[in-house]
Amino acid sequence: MTDSKSRTEDTAPKPVAIVTGGGTGIGTACCLALAAEGFRVGIHYRKSEDQARDLLSRIHDGFLLKADLSDMNEVEEMAKSIKDKAGRVDVLVNNAGVSINSDINTMKVDEFDSQRAMLRGIWYLTKRILRLFMLRSGSGRIINISSVVGHTGNPGQIPYTMEKAALDAFTKSLAKELWGRNILVNSVAPGFIDTAMTESLPDDVRNRILENIPLGRMGQPEDIADVVAFLAGRGNYITGSVIHVNGGLYGG
Ligand SMILES: NC(=O)c1ccc[n+]([C@@H]2O[C@H](COP(=O)([O-])OP(=O)(O)OC[C@H]3O[C@@H](n4cnc5c(N)ncnc54)[C@H](OP(=O)(O)O)[C@@H]3O)[C@@H](O)[C@H]2O)c1
Repeated sequence: MTDSKSRTEDTAPKPVAIVTGGGTGIGTACCLALAAEGFRVGIHYRKSEDQARDLLSRIHDGFLLKADLSDMNEVEEMAKSIKDKAGRVDVLVNNAGVSINSDINTMKVDEFDSQRAMLRGIWYLTKRILRLFMLRSGSGRIINISSVVGHTGNPGQIPYTMEKAALDAFTKSLAKELWGRNILVNSVAPGFIDTAMTESLPDDVRNRILENIPLGRMGQPEDIADVVAFLAGRGNYITGSVIHVNGGLYGG
Protein backbone atom coordinates (compact mmCIF):
# COMPACT_ATOMS: atom_id res chain seq x y z
CA MET A 1 0.00 0.00 0.00
CA THR A 2 1.37 3.47 -0.90
CA ASP A 3 1.71 6.15 1.77
CA SER A 4 -0.87 8.37 0.07
CA LYS A 5 -3.40 5.52 -0.10
CA SER A 6 -2.92 4.67 3.56
CA ARG A 7 -3.31 8.38 4.48
CA THR A 8 -6.63 8.55 2.57
CA GLU A 9 -7.91 5.43 4.32
CA ASP A 10 -6.88 6.80 7.73
CA THR A 11 -8.78 10.04 7.24
CA ALA A 12 -11.91 8.63 5.53
CA PRO A 13 -14.94 8.97 7.85
CA LYS A 14 -15.89 5.67 9.41
CA PRO A 15 -19.27 4.17 8.58
CA VAL A 16 -21.66 4.35 11.54
CA ALA A 17 -23.70 1.46 12.95
CA ILE A 18 -26.42 1.92 15.57
CA VAL A 19 -27.30 -1.11 17.74
CA THR A 20 -30.38 -0.90 19.95
CA GLY A 21 -30.16 -2.77 23.24
CA GLY A 22 -26.38 -2.66 22.91
CA GLY A 23 -25.75 -2.82 26.66
CA THR A 24 -26.60 -6.51 27.04
CA GLY A 25 -26.52 -9.97 25.45
CA ILE A 26 -26.81 -10.20 21.67
CA GLY A 27 -26.65 -6.39 21.35
CA THR A 28 -23.26 -6.22 23.07
CA ALA A 29 -21.88 -8.97 20.84
CA CYS A 30 -23.17 -7.08 17.78
CA CYS A 31 -21.48 -3.85 18.92
CA LEU A 32 -18.16 -5.67 19.37
CA ALA A 33 -18.41 -7.45 16.02
CA LEU A 34 -19.31 -4.26 14.17
CA ALA A 35 -16.51 -2.30 15.86
CA ALA A 36 -14.10 -5.05 14.80
CA GLU A 37 -15.36 -4.63 11.22
CA GLY A 38 -14.41 -0.93 11.30
CA PHE A 39 -17.75 0.68 12.16
CA ARG A 40 -18.11 3.57 14.57
CA VAL A 41 -20.79 2.11 16.86
CA GLY A 42 -23.67 3.94 18.53
CA ILE A 43 -24.55 1.87 21.61
CA HIS A 44 -28.19 2.35 22.53
CA TYR A 45 -29.46 1.39 25.98
CA ARG A 46 -32.50 2.01 28.18
CA LYS A 47 -31.69 0.74 31.70
CA SER A 48 -28.30 -0.94 31.25
CA GLU A 49 -26.23 2.22 31.49
CA ASP A 50 -23.31 0.69 33.42
CA GLN A 51 -22.93 -2.15 30.92
CA ALA A 52 -23.22 0.27 27.98
CA ARG A 53 -20.52 2.54 29.48
CA ASP A 54 -18.28 -0.45 30.11
CA LEU A 55 -18.76 -1.58 26.50
CA LEU A 56 -17.99 1.93 25.24
CA SER A 57 -14.66 1.79 27.05
CA ARG A 58 -13.85 -1.46 25.24
CA ILE A 59 -14.51 -0.28 21.68
CA HIS A 60 -12.67 2.40 19.82
CA ASP A 61 -14.56 5.54 18.89
CA GLY A 62 -18.15 4.69 19.84
CA PHE A 63 -20.90 6.77 21.43
CA LEU A 64 -23.91 6.22 23.71
CA LEU A 65 -27.62 6.73 23.07
CA LYS A 66 -30.34 6.41 25.69
CA ALA A 67 -34.05 5.90 24.97
CA ASP A 68 -37.05 3.88 25.98
CA LEU A 69 -38.14 2.69 22.55
CA SER A 70 -41.75 2.38 23.67
CA ASP A 71 -41.84 6.17 24.09
CA MET A 72 -42.12 8.02 20.75
CA ASN A 73 -40.70 11.27 22.18
CA GLU A 74 -37.61 9.47 23.40
CA VAL A 75 -37.16 7.80 20.00
CA GLU A 76 -37.42 11.21 18.33
CA GLU A 77 -34.80 12.65 20.71
CA MET A 78 -32.57 9.67 20.04
CA ALA A 79 -32.75 10.24 16.27
CA LYS A 80 -31.80 13.90 16.77
CA SER A 81 -28.96 12.97 19.05
CA ILE A 82 -27.55 10.59 16.41
CA LYS A 83 -27.52 13.54 14.03
CA ASP A 84 -25.46 15.59 16.51
CA LYS A 85 -23.12 12.80 17.56
CA ALA A 86 -22.48 11.06 14.24
CA GLY A 87 -24.19 12.88 11.37
CA ARG A 88 -24.70 9.63 9.47
CA VAL A 89 -26.09 6.11 9.85
CA ASP A 90 -24.96 3.33 7.56
CA VAL A 91 -26.32 0.38 9.54
CA LEU A 92 -29.24 0.11 11.97
CA VAL A 93 -29.51 -3.06 14.04
CA ASN A 94 -32.97 -3.25 15.65
CA ASN A 95 -31.94 -5.64 18.40
CA ALA A 96 -33.75 -4.38 21.53
CA GLY A 97 -36.62 -6.61 22.52
CA VAL A 98 -38.67 -7.68 25.46
CA SER A 99 -40.57 -10.88 26.09
CA ILE A 100 -43.53 -10.79 28.41
CA ASN A 101 -44.46 -14.36 29.16
CA SER A 102 -47.78 -15.75 30.26
CA ASP A 103 -50.56 -17.75 28.69
CA ILE A 104 -53.63 -16.26 27.06
CA ASN A 105 -55.79 -16.76 30.14
CA THR A 106 -53.45 -14.93 32.48
CA MET A 107 -52.03 -12.15 30.34
CA LYS A 108 -53.47 -8.70 30.96
CA VAL A 109 -54.30 -6.19 28.23
CA ASP A 110 -51.68 -3.69 29.44
CA GLU A 111 -49.01 -6.43 29.31
CA PHE A 112 -50.06 -7.19 25.73
CA ASP A 113 -49.84 -3.48 24.93
CA SER A 114 -46.36 -3.09 26.40
CA GLN A 115 -45.14 -5.93 24.16
CA ARG A 116 -46.78 -4.25 21.16
CA ALA A 117 -45.17 -0.87 21.99
CA MET A 118 -41.73 -2.30 21.21
CA LEU A 119 -42.77 -3.04 17.62
CA ARG A 120 -44.07 0.52 17.23
CA GLY A 121 -40.75 1.85 18.56
CA ILE A 122 -38.76 -0.24 16.06
CA TRP A 123 -40.99 0.98 13.24
CA TYR A 124 -40.65 4.62 14.31
CA LEU A 125 -36.89 4.57 14.87
CA THR A 126 -36.41 2.94 11.45
CA LYS A 127 -38.69 5.54 9.84
CA ARG A 128 -36.62 8.41 11.34
CA ILE A 129 -33.24 6.83 10.48
CA LEU A 130 -34.40 6.34 6.90
CA ARG A 131 -35.61 9.91 6.57
CA LEU A 132 -32.69 11.62 8.31
CA PHE A 133 -29.82 9.53 6.94
CA MET A 134 -30.23 6.54 4.64
CA LEU A 135 -32.61 7.98 2.04
CA ARG A 136 -30.38 11.08 1.82
CA SER A 137 -27.14 9.15 1.46
CA GLY A 138 -28.69 6.62 -0.92
CA SER A 139 -27.43 3.58 0.95
CA GLY A 140 -27.91 1.63 4.16
CA ARG A 141 -28.45 -1.67 5.89
CA ILE A 142 -31.26 -2.42 8.33
CA ILE A 143 -31.03 -5.63 10.34
CA ASN A 144 -33.93 -6.71 12.52
CA ILE A 145 -33.38 -9.29 15.25
CA SER A 146 -36.53 -11.39 15.21
CA SER A 147 -36.81 -14.95 16.56
CA VAL A 148 -37.34 -18.58 15.65
CA VAL A 149 -40.53 -18.53 17.73
CA GLY A 150 -42.12 -16.06 15.30
CA HIS A 151 -42.07 -19.04 12.90
CA THR A 152 -42.63 -22.02 15.17
CA GLY A 153 -44.92 -20.47 17.80
CA ASN A 154 -44.27 -20.98 21.51
CA PRO A 155 -46.72 -21.59 24.35
CA GLY A 156 -46.81 -18.80 26.94
CA GLN A 157 -45.38 -16.26 24.51
CA ILE A 158 -48.28 -15.36 22.22
CA PRO A 159 -47.70 -11.56 22.05
CA TYR A 160 -43.92 -12.06 21.74
CA THR A 161 -44.33 -14.54 18.89
CA MET A 162 -46.85 -12.19 17.24
CA GLU A 163 -44.37 -9.31 17.52
CA LYS A 164 -41.49 -11.31 16.09
CA ALA A 165 -43.58 -12.65 13.18
CA ALA A 166 -44.66 -9.06 12.51
CA LEU A 167 -41.02 -7.93 12.59
CA ASP A 168 -40.17 -10.39 9.82
CA ALA A 169 -43.17 -9.10 7.83
CA PHE A 170 -41.83 -5.57 8.40
CA THR A 171 -38.46 -6.69 6.99
CA LYS A 172 -40.05 -8.10 3.84
CA SER A 173 -42.40 -5.16 3.22
CA LEU A 174 -39.75 -2.52 3.89
CA ALA A 175 -37.27 -4.24 1.58
CA LYS A 176 -39.90 -3.92 -1.17
CA GLU A 177 -40.82 -0.31 -0.31
CA LEU A 178 -37.14 0.55 -0.63
CA TRP A 179 -36.99 -0.91 -4.13
CA GLY A 180 -34.14 0.70 -6.08
CA ARG A 181 -32.89 2.75 -3.10
CA ASN A 182 -29.79 0.68 -2.30
CA ILE A 183 -31.00 0.10 1.26
CA LEU A 184 -30.96 -3.58 2.22
CA VAL A 185 -33.33 -4.86 4.90
CA ASN A 186 -33.01 -8.29 6.50
CA SER A 187 -33.93 -10.18 9.64
CA VAL A 188 -31.70 -12.41 11.69
CA ALA A 189 -33.89 -14.91 13.58
CA PRO A 190 -32.00 -16.40 16.54
CA GLY A 191 -32.88 -19.76 18.06
CA PHE A 192 -32.22 -20.19 21.79
CA ILE A 193 -29.27 -18.04 22.77
CA ASP A 194 -27.49 -17.94 26.13
CA THR A 195 -28.43 -14.46 27.43
CA ALA A 196 -30.42 -12.86 30.26
CA MET A 197 -33.58 -13.51 28.24
CA THR A 198 -33.17 -17.29 28.46
CA GLU A 199 -31.23 -17.75 31.72
CA SER A 200 -34.41 -17.88 33.81
CA LEU A 201 -35.72 -20.90 31.89
CA PRO A 202 -36.40 -23.86 34.18
CA ASP A 203 -33.99 -26.81 33.69
CA ASP A 204 -36.66 -29.09 32.21
CA VAL A 205 -37.60 -26.50 29.58
CA ARG A 206 -33.92 -25.88 28.78
CA ASN A 207 -33.27 -29.63 28.44
CA ARG A 208 -36.31 -30.09 26.21
CA ILE A 209 -35.05 -27.32 23.92
CA LEU A 210 -31.54 -28.79 23.80
CA GLU A 211 -32.92 -32.19 22.75
CA ASN A 212 -34.30 -30.51 19.62
CA ILE A 213 -31.12 -28.70 18.57
CA PRO A 214 -29.02 -30.79 16.14
CA LEU A 215 -25.85 -28.89 17.10
CA GLY A 216 -26.51 -29.93 20.73
CA ARG A 217 -25.96 -26.56 22.40
CA MET A 218 -27.62 -23.22 22.94
CA GLY A 219 -26.25 -20.46 20.74
CA GLN A 220 -23.88 -17.78 21.97
CA PRO A 221 -24.50 -14.06 21.32
CA GLU A 222 -21.42 -14.12 19.06
CA ASP A 223 -23.14 -16.67 16.79
CA ILE A 224 -25.77 -14.02 16.01
CA ALA A 225 -23.29 -11.12 15.88
CA ASP A 226 -21.24 -12.94 13.21
CA VAL A 227 -24.22 -13.00 10.86
CA VAL A 228 -25.16 -9.40 11.70
CA ALA A 229 -21.62 -8.27 10.85
CA PHE A 230 -21.80 -10.18 7.55
CA LEU A 231 -25.11 -8.52 6.61
CA ALA A 232 -23.78 -5.11 7.69
CA GLY A 233 -20.58 -5.17 5.68
CA ARG A 234 -20.96 -7.82 2.98
CA GLY A 235 -24.09 -9.72 1.88
CA ASN A 236 -24.50 -7.31 -1.03
CA TYR A 237 -27.22 -9.33 -2.81
CA ILE A 238 -29.42 -10.16 0.19
CA THR A 239 -32.55 -8.18 1.02
CA GLY A 240 -36.02 -9.05 2.33
CA SER A 241 -34.64 -12.25 3.84
CA VAL A 242 -34.92 -13.92 7.21
CA ILE A 243 -31.64 -15.62 8.11
CA HIS A 244 -32.21 -18.38 10.67
CA VAL A 245 -29.39 -18.89 13.17
CA ASN A 246 -30.53 -21.65 15.49
CA GLY A 247 -28.20 -24.66 15.41
CA GLY A 248 -30.66 -26.57 13.22
CA LEU A 249 -33.67 -26.16 15.53
CA TYR A 250 -35.75 -24.81 12.67
CA GLY A 251 -34.98 -24.62 8.96
CA GLY A 252 -37.26 -21.81 7.76
N1 LIG B 1 -31.83 -14.93 23.81
C1 LIG B 1 -32.54 -15.59 22.93
O1 LIG B 1 -32.65 -16.83 23.00
C2 LIG B 1 -33.24 -14.88 21.81
C3 LIG B 1 -33.88 -15.68 20.85
C4 LIG B 1 -34.51 -15.07 19.80
C5 LIG B 1 -34.52 -13.70 19.70
N2 LIG B 1 -33.91 -12.93 20.65
C6 LIG B 1 -33.97 -11.48 20.49
O2 LIG B 1 -32.67 -10.94 20.56
C7 LIG B 1 -32.75 -9.58 21.02
C8 LIG B 1 -31.75 -9.37 22.15
O3 LIG B 1 -32.13 -10.17 23.26
P1 LIG B 1 -31.10 -10.80 24.31
O4 LIG B 1 -31.26 -12.25 24.26
O5 LIG B 1 -29.75 -10.21 24.12
O6 LIG B 1 -31.75 -10.37 25.69
P2 LIG B 1 -31.50 -9.15 26.66
O7 LIG B 1 -30.10 -9.17 27.17
O8 LIG B 1 -32.62 -9.21 27.64
O9 LIG B 1 -31.63 -7.86 25.74
C9 LIG B 1 -32.79 -7.13 25.56
C10 LIG B 1 -32.38 -5.69 25.27
O10 LIG B 1 -33.52 -4.95 24.86
C11 LIG B 1 -33.48 -3.68 25.48
N3 LIG B 1 -34.83 -3.20 25.69
C12 LIG B 1 -35.89 -3.90 26.18
N4 LIG B 1 -36.97 -3.11 26.22
C13 LIG B 1 -36.60 -1.88 25.77
C14 LIG B 1 -37.27 -0.65 25.57
N5 LIG B 1 -38.56 -0.49 25.87
N6 LIG B 1 -36.56 0.38 25.09
C15 LIG B 1 -35.26 0.26 24.79
N7 LIG B 1 -34.56 -0.89 24.93
C16 LIG B 1 -35.23 -1.95 25.43
C17 LIG B 1 -32.77 -3.88 26.80
O11 LIG B 1 -32.13 -2.65 27.15
P3 LIG B 1 -31.85 -2.23 28.69
O12 LIG B 1 -31.29 -3.44 29.38
O13 LIG B 1 -30.86 -1.11 28.57
O14 LIG B 1 -33.17 -1.79 29.26
C18 LIG B 1 -31.77 -4.99 26.48
O15 LIG B 1 -30.50 -4.47 26.14
C19 LIG B 1 -34.20 -9.37 21.42
O16 LIG B 1 -34.90 -8.71 20.39
C20 LIG B 1 -34.73 -10.78 21.58
O17 LIG B 1 -36.13 -10.85 21.40
C21 LIG B 1 -33.27 -13.50 21.71
